[in-house]
Amino acid sequence: MTGSAGRAGSADRTGLAPGPGSARGASPERGKGSADGTGPVTARRAAIVVDGRVISAVEGVTLAAALVGERHWTLGRNPVDGALRGPFCGMGVCFECEVTVDGRAGVRACLTRIHPGMRVDTAAPAEGSDGG
Ligand code: FES
Repeated sequence: MTGSAGRAGSADRTGLAPGPGSARGASPERGKGSADGTGPVTARRAAIVVDGRVISAVEGVTLAAALVGERHWTLGRNPVDGALRGPFCGMGVCFECEVTVDGRAGVRACLTRIHPGMRVDTAAPAEGSDGG
């Protein structure tokens, strides 16, 4: 196979909804930088609010990746045993990364792309607490 001819018409295997500037339907300029064709890699950053704190994240990456990049590993507690939860599989299977995004609960952070102004609420223990 040569070039990208083999990719024409192939399904998106990521399970991610196309983000802003994704290769599908976007200008060729915005799709540049994606080595595997699964989405845009841009230098643009977006301000988002996580538990009331403003952070800057790379637009188009997943929310889970942005949170982990901010060392925000804990996103809540297991409702059964109270154990701390955080991203585990990174591909939408385990549901350990559920957060509330723009008022919608139960959103998997690993399947959600960063967009400017998004508001994220986790059920993580407050910083400085021992989590217990
Ligand atoms: S990390 Fe497993 S569903 Fe998101």
